[in-house]
Amino acid sequence: MASVLMAGDIHGNTDHAVNLVRISARQACERMFVLGDFGAWEHTPEGRHYFDVVNRAARKQRVHVYFLDGNHDKSSLIHELYDGDADDDGFLVCRSNIRYAPRGHRWVWEGTRFAAFGGAYSVDKSWRLATEAQKKRNVERRRLFGSSRRADAAESLWFPEEEMTDEEFGAVLAADTSPVDVLLAHDKPRDAAPDWNRKDLPECLPNQDRIQRAVNALRPGLMLHGHLHYRYTDMIRCGPDEWTQVDGLGGDPEASRPQDYDRDQSWLVLPLPYRRTSVDREQPELAS
Ligand SMILES: [Fe+2]
Ligand SMILES: [Fe+2]
Repeated sequence: MASVLMAGDIHGNTDHAVNLVRISARQACERMFVLGDFGAWEHTPEGRHYFDVVNRAARKQRVHVYFLDGNHDKSSLIHELYDGDADDDGFLVCRSNIRYAPRGHRWVWEGTRFAAFGGAYSVDKSWRLATEAQKKRNVERRRLFGSSRRADAAESLWFPEEEMTDEEFGAVLAADTSPVDVLLAHDKPRDAAPDWNRKDLPECLPNQDRIQRAVNALRPGLMLHGHLHYRYTDMIRCGPDEWTQVDGLGGDPEASRPQDYDRDQSWLVLPLPYRRTSVDREQPELAS
């Protein structure tokens, strides 16, 4: 039986990414799938180097790394660089062993139907914009003294494409509303209620509503996401008599609360084909 190692946010943390690749190999997973905030920062030399190092590790371990975009991935640049380079399943090939799942992408692995929806709201948006503005001012000041560096600070820390508009999301969702078995996203669906939630600002809710719309339309048995940097499991309704198991995964050590960090909470193994009945045994207790 094939399995996929599902992983939470990595944020370009090379050690954590390489560790997860090694864990994938140890767990006999030829595929690893990162649920956003992977570290797609190819507008910087460090970001390109990160892709190269992770790709090298993945090749060595014979693992293919897939990711959807989080709010901290520059997805506009992924499209700019790799739109013409899709594999047979429609993933964009960023490196030989690193592939990107665009928003609304669907595919089938071992008979299991998947869909991916990236994006989320950044709660630190104002800090990121202020830092970009400061960087721009610094470059302009240096230019007055003869430096030729370009003021390319805009969209280097905060990405305007971080979440879809309702119209964009509606169009992507309407393109195919047939059910899926497993839904993958960066953000949580609105109805999921983890014990600890650092994304409950009003600005976070529109995108959570979009993901909830995807759950209600596609009725997955299982939904996996990152973004909260917190491991939890919940059951939510996706229809009058149907339930979706939601699993949120933890992130890399730097992005998580150090006092209770546990790397093993940042990943889980999903055996394929996925069988809905294997995870919804809690349903009768939860049904009202
Ligand atoms: Fe994150
Ligand atoms: Fe995030």
